[in-house]
Amino acid sequence: MLFFYGATIASIIITILIVFYVRGRKRCCRTPLFIDWPLFGMSPQLLCNLSQFHEFLANILNSKGGTAQFMGPWFSNMNFLLTTDSMNAHHVFSKNYENYVKGPEFREVFDVFGDAIIVTDDPEKWKYFKSFFLSLIKHKGFDIFFEKTIQSKVHDGLLPMLDHAWLQGSVLDLQDVFCRYTFDNISSLVFGFDPKSLSLGFPIIEAQKAFDEIEKCLFYRQMVPKALWKFQKWLQVGKEKKMAKARKVFDDFLCTQIASKLEELSRFKKTNDEALPFESFLAEATRYESCDVKFLRDSGFNIFAAGRDTIASLLTWFFWLVATHPLVEAKILKEIKEIFGASNGEYYKVLGIEDVKKLVYLHGALCEVLRLFPPIPLERKKPIKDDILPSGHTVNSNSNIVFSFYGMGRSEEIWGKDCLKFKPERWISGKGRIIHVPSYKFISFNAGARTCLGKDMSFIQTKIVISAILQKYSMQVVKDCSEVTPSLSIILLMKHGLKVKIRKREV
Ligand code: HEM
Repeated sequence: MLFFYGATIASIIITILIVFYVRGRKRCCRTPLFIDWPLFGMSPQLLCNLSQFHEFLANILNSKGGTAQFMGPWFSNMNFLLTTDSMNAHHVFSKNYENYVKGPEFREVFDVFGDAIIVTDDPEKWKYFKSFFLSLIKHKGFDIFFEKTIQSKVHDGLLPMLDHAWLQGSVLDLQDVFCRYTFDNISSLVFGFDPKSLSLGFPIIEAQKAFDEIEKCLFYRQMVPKALWKFQKWLQVGKEKKMAKARKVFDDFLCTQIASKLEELSRFKKTNDEALPFESFLAEATRYESCDVKFLRDSGFNIFAAGRDTIASLLTWFFWLVATHPLVEAKILKEIKEIFGASNGEYYKVLGIEDVKKLVYLHGALCEVLRLFPPIPLERKKPIKDDILPSGHTVNSNSNIVFSFYGMGRSEEIWGKDCLKFKPERWISGKGRIIHVPSYKFISFNAGARTCLGKDMSFIQTKIVISAILQKYSMQVVKDCSEVTPSLSIILLMKHGLKVKIRKREV
């Protein structure tokens, strides 16, 4: 009797699971990513692989032809069409881009960005911000100001820090050094104020810590159901409590800088006619029409977010790849030596904007780093109207499309069989020029109308930093390479930092 009851209950449970499973398969589109479990959707498998999230997603997508449906837990509104298909990217970012927006949910998650260029979907506002940003970087004084700011930070901040670590024989977290460098640098560019977080003793700068916390919380918000983080926000607990605290600290920092700049400007009664040299984004922005404190705060935050950790990420992954590929390092040094003459531990040159444009091999190496480790690994879009993607998948206004830029950089279809190899040569033509790869394939700076506006600045800045460091020092990675894994944040940094020992180059 007992056996009969047991068998009946077991068969009922199995039947329910089969019904849910079949129902789940019907709910999801042609190419499901994993098993769609009742209640939990496909989350269990993703959660099991969270520590290597980007790698896992890239492998599974590329093995499933590039596009697949992810079903989140029931009622969580976390269903995404995930893709690494370059034709889908071309369609969404360029060909049919007017049909695709970031969407209100994106703005809710990224509310700390305020109402400025990175988050807006309003075409008029976006055009306004874009022309504002371009007018700043195309200002006649900008290049000189930009070059001077970077060169002096490299000369007075970065190199002395590395020299100190070499003299002490100590282990240095190069990622921390670069995050501090970029924080000081972007603050100098935006406010004309250097917080000097890159100083011996590694001082704790509250605003810098707060900014890091904000980025982690933004990633968290994207990983959990909206209802959960909203509830936490309402209760002011967990990550949302940290977010609120960090926002306040960072906003205080922004507002203090804005107020002091405005006060300084009014004190000196600076006007357009006085044609002062370009001294910061903010000083220039105050000359722009419809400028108020909110506009300055939101623009300041957006430029900070766009240009700080992206550069730190690129530099960190670059130095790791170069330290583990000595032949590439030798070729970069050879190029610098051939163009600018020999250097050694004592003599070196901090190059300028026009100088670094000549460094073709280094440019190829940077493109390779950006391909394999895109600083912004994911991009989300929402269709306004029903559409069919080139991959054949149907999307509607309820769909969320997520592009894995990380996966696209590792797609055999786009880059060939050796796609996982770090090979700067793939970017250099027989005539020694950089090969142009369309942005919907080399997607690290986004593609189409919303392509990154800081792309050229990024190459120039990183080339100045790298060429100065490599002329003087080499890095020995301390940790076992297998421990180098990407962090879980909106920017692809290293989870455990990059620990190195510094060596001075001999003649
Ligand atoms: C390695 C460095 C960088 C990478 C990989 C990068 C990548 C990107 C990506 C993927 C986007 C699209 C984001 C989105 O739409 O959600 C973007 C947008 C943008 N980036 Fe960058 N970025 C870098 C550095 C910079 C720098 C240094 C600046 C300027 C200080 C900058 C300014 C911008 C701006 C203003 C946008 C918004 C463009 C628009 O929506 O029209 N970026 N960037």
